[in-house]
Amino acid sequence: MEIEKIGVLGAGTMGSGIAQVAAQAGFQVVMRDIDERFVKGGLAAIDRFLARSVEKEKVTPDEKKAILGRIKGVVSIEEIGAADFVIEAVLEDLELKKTVFAELDRLCRPEVIFTSNTSSMSITEIAAATSRPERVAGMHFFNPTPLMKLVEVIRGFQTSDATIQVVTDLARKMGKEPIQVKKDSPGFVVNRVLMPHVIEAIRLVEEGVASMEDVDKAVKLGLNYPMGPFELMDLTGIDIVSHVTDYFFNELNKENKWVAPQLLKSMIRANRLGRKTKAGWYEYE
Ligand SMILES: NC(=O)c1ccc[n+]([C@@H]2O[C@H](COP(=O)([O-])OP(=O)(O)OC[C@H]3O[C@@H](n4cnc5c(N)ncnc54)[C@H](O)[C@@H]3O)[C@@H](O)[C@H]2O)c1
Repeated sequence: MEIEKIGVLGAGTMGSGIAQVAAQAGFQVVMRDIDERFVKGGLAAIDRFLARSVEKEKVTPDEKKAILGRIKGVVSIEEIGAADFVIEAVLEDLELKKTVFAELDRLCRPEVIFTSNTSSMSITEIAAATSRPERVAGMHFFNPTPLMKLVEVIRGFQTSDATIQVVTDLARKMGKEPIQVKKDSPGFVVNRVLMPHVIEAIRLVEEGVASMEDVDKAVKLGLNYPMGPFELMDLTGIDIVSHVTDYFFNELNKENKWVAPQLLKSMIRANRLGRKTKAGWYEYE
């Protein structure tokens, strides 16, 4: 089946970024969120990003207009029924994702492939909420999506080879570099590597070994990473870090190494960030 129209669930940080790269690659996009306010926010974020691209002369004003013209923001989930391929980027909540996939299954043609942008959760379990688990896979983009090249393509327990091929090809058409995650394992590749870094960075600060700024500086200058762990958490939001560490703890034999540090829990309890604002780590220290 030729993919012309891509349905994106969620107009948040990731949903809007994914909608943008899909539209930039020439696809028609239907981006759905649960409230008009979120849809508008997602469209505004895309507009801002493209305006900067125009300023930097990476995109012409006409191209910007054409890209935006290919994205339809909607609240009604029924509109996703016309999609040829679906990418889900709702909140990192397994029950919510299962509900969304069951709904998609009811709405979309049987041959349509569904993918989830989950950072850590089981593709197999999400797929089991549908009647087409062979056509469900993980398609894990990174933040900020228009700039980050990697897409992890994740095989669920029942995902077919044909589905993996279609998802891999689509990632390339969207200008990304896919890698194959051959087993549905929590956190896939990048987050399994990243989370121990993040947890240890927070513990170093808790133990008074170094300041947040110096940990970030050490990682940038000593490991040549472009960003330190605290700067990265400011970008992604710490709610996601805590969801992922809790999930790893439960899924990966309740090993102590995945227990969220007290400082992370305090930051969340102090509710300094809300769901979408920056953590502001340095300010907190
Ligand atoms: N932020 C990151 O750095 C990052 C990176 C990679 C993957 N992810 C994953 O992407 C997903 C989305 O993360 P985010 O950072 O964009 O979150 P976000 O909070 O910015 O956006 C999520 C959006 O989903 C919407 N939503 C909730 N229920 C919905 C439904 N039934 N239908 C449509 N929309 C619905 C919310 O209203 C919200 O606007 C999560 O699974 C997350 O783990 C996040």
